[in-house]
Amino acid sequence: MANDPHPVPSYRPETIAVSAGRPTDLGQPLNTPIVPASNFLSGAGPEYSRGDGTETVHAFETAIGELEGGTGVAFSSGMAAISAIFDNLAVGARVVVPDDSYQGVTAVVSDGEQRLGWKVLRLPTGDTQRWLDVIGSVDLIWLESPSNPLLEVGDVPAICAAAKAADVLCAVDNTFATPLSQKPLDHGATFSVHSATKFIGGHSDLLSGIVVVAKGADEELDAIRRRRTFGGAFPGALETFLALRGLRTLPLRLEKSQSNAQVLARRLSGHRAVSEVRYPGLPEHPASEVVKRTLAGPGAMVSFETVGNAISADVRLTRLKLIHPATSLGGVESTIERRAKLVGQEHLPPTLLRMSVGCEHLEDLWDDLDQALGGLIER
Ligand SMILES: Cc1ncc(COP(=O)(O)O)c(C=O)c1O
Repeated sequence: MANDPHPVPSYRPETIAVSAGRPTDLGQPLNTPIVPASNFLSGAGPEYSRGDGTETVHAFETAIGELEGGTGVAFSSGMAAISAIFDNLAVGARVVVPDDSYQGVTAVVSDGEQRLGWKVLRLPTGDTQRWLDVIGSVDLIWLESPSNPLLEVGDVPAICAAAKAADVLCAVDNTFATPLSQKPLDHGATFSVHSATKFIGGHSDLLSGIVVVAKGADEELDAIRRRRTFGGAFPGALETFLALRGLRTLPLRLEKSQSNAQVLARRLSGHRAVSEVRYPGLPEHPASEVVKRTLAGPGAMVSFETVGNAISADVRLTRLKLIHPATSLGGVESTIERRAKLVGQEHLPPTLLRMSVGCEHLEDLWDDLDQALGGLIER
């Protein structure tokens, strides 16, 4: 490129989030419009959107693909994106997953175990050596870091690099980190996966997902696209437009949510009604050295356990006035949930509250938490 008078600048992630995937022809709108098409006039390119996509979806795929350094394939939800990877596994496949991961993944691998004879190994996210030891004997490595809901952090760079060296498929659910904090493909992962429903969308008003496939992994890219076409899990035009619009402000939202989360986590650790706080930004996080090395920021999720039992934790949640009791996360508004109440999550600590910290004023969030946690509750 030394002789190129106009080299393409390499932008930082915040700039890519704002600028990638925009139309370039003069006279075009700055944002790719919502194209609600299934059918196209035949003979000059796209024919049917379930297989060929639409401009709206291509714009979103381009933007996330550029951010992650691969090729984006958008889906109708995070679970559709996740399932596209697992659905390519054969009968009897050997899979390694974290022992703390999003419950949808837990359900998918249990289903594969029962129906398709998959050999599933569940390892602690933080035990890097055990992951490295099994890489040569599995067909797919599935990582999630930070994990949902325990916020465990794994050595994504080391495990992805080892998987690549061993030519083993490796997928990372990057939903909690976001593409601004972690880029698994840079380290050798085959797939980086997002529920775009969460931080990318950012407003709790859409369902969407995306798999970003590493450059050069052409067979895997074809296989992922085939799954989307066969499963019909193509994302809607409005949802994809909103997801891309959400991406434009992700750097700003994440910065604010993350700085709120950092202070709230610290204050919660000193609160008399809180027995344990799990937040990757706290020095006492068990993987704090790995956090510093692998993540650009500790994220906007804070999980904590309250003193007392499940009933007193639930009572505390009913007192919240600002923070919403809700199961999803990653929006501008703060949400909280006691995770052990969910079917299949009974193994979690009974009072574990997983909070998605939003962009409200820090002190309003703290006042709300403090008043809800305090008061006279039987222990
Ligand atoms: C880490 C993680 N991955 C994937 C998903 C699934 O995404 P969706 O709900 O968009 O299908 C979720 C949903 O909560 C999640 O938290």
